[in-house]
Amino acid sequence: MSAGHAGVIILSRMIPGYFPAPDQAGGPAGTSPGAPGISLGRLTTSPSARPEDVAVTLDYPLLESKITVPALPGWAISRPRLTRRIARGAAGPVTLVTGPPGAGKTTALASWAATAGPERVAWVTLDDYDNQPGSFWANVTAALHRAGVTVPGGAAGDPGRLAPVLAAQPLPVVLVLDDLQEITAPRLLAELASMLGSARPGLRLIAAVRKDPLLPLRDYRAAGELTEIRAAELSFTVPEAAKLMTQHGITLPAEELGLITRRVAGWAAGLRLAALSLDNHPDPALVIKNLTAEDSAITSYLVAEVLDAQPAAARELMLRTSILERVSAGLAGEGR
Ligand SMILES: Nc1ncnc2c1ncn2[C@@H]1O[C@H](COP(=O)(O)OP(=O)(O)OP(=O)(O)O)[C@@H](O)[C@H]1O
Ligand SMILES: [Mg+2]
Repeated sequence: MSAGHAGVIILSRMIPGYFPAPDQAGGPAGTSPGAPGISLGRLTTSPSARPEDVAVTLDYPLLESKITVPALPGWAISRPRLTRRIARGAAGPVTLVTGPPGAGKTTALASWAATAGPERVAWVTLDDYDNQPGSFWANVTAALHRAGVTVPGGAAGDPGRLAPVLAAQPLPVVLVLDDLQEITAPRLLAELASMLGSARPGLRLIAAVRKDPLLPLRDYRAAGELTEIRAAELSFTVPEAAKLMTQHGITLPAEELGLITRRVAGWAAGLRLAALSLDNHPDPALVIKNLTAEDSAITSYLVAEVLDAQPAAARELMLRTSILERVSAGLAGEGR
């Protein structure tokens, strides 16, 4: 937000029905989640917007996919022990899901969100563009709206004014911030911490993050208000690995299954790569032997194995799009 709030959000113009009319502002919460007619577009400034809309000077795109709970892919196996842990965490103020890339954080949260209740879930998938207050709070506002929170025009994108709106929610809303490691700006983290403190009890946070964020975790921990789900807990157990293999039509002897699971230390992405390597491989025994060979660099082996199995056109597509964080069909076809 710029000093003096000189600019204007015209979300209400760009997104019909996005915010309530002035006479409804501050009214009871509860627009229907995912109300029809919402189509997120580019935010611009306008000299003619109402004074109460004045909040942010920015011109940036909002992507609907970023505030949508990711759909669960068909290959995702259910992991009830994690879903239960997340559900218990969601009943308290802060839940942290931490682990390395590919640990299964997003998939576990998406599984929980698919069955969550009675809380409302506002989901934001963050990227480095959100490491600035304007984009971050606009996305959070849009996600909250989607989850059914009525956001008065003046509170859009303004954490200080959003907090009392959230605190007054009759039914708590759970804000999921996926990839929170993208947010490093001290001011933004301070705003988030302050919002968490003042938006209670209506707001709860679940963050998926690769390392501990700079939030006052010690205070929450000391108060018994922090749920921590870490890499060890995210690791696949042998029965879960068996389920994943079965999903790919692969049945392995218990010993080999245990060996693979240990070799990748329960790493979700590694196990799935192993399953893809084994799937339809003419010599599964060889794959397992190479996977578990003492001198094999398992990650690079798996990646090479999966890539090598792809047709030339698919490899070329992967190569061209590999530098991008997000790929759309249009972008993938660019320059062909
Ligand atoms: N429940 C699951 N069932 C099957 N495969 C899974 C499951 N969870 C994770 N995986 C495998 O692990 C990969 C990584 O999972 P996910 O994207 O959830 O990890 P992440 O911890 O969110 O990673 P990042 O830090 O990169 O965001 C998935 O693409 C999939 O191959
Ligand atoms: Mg993720």
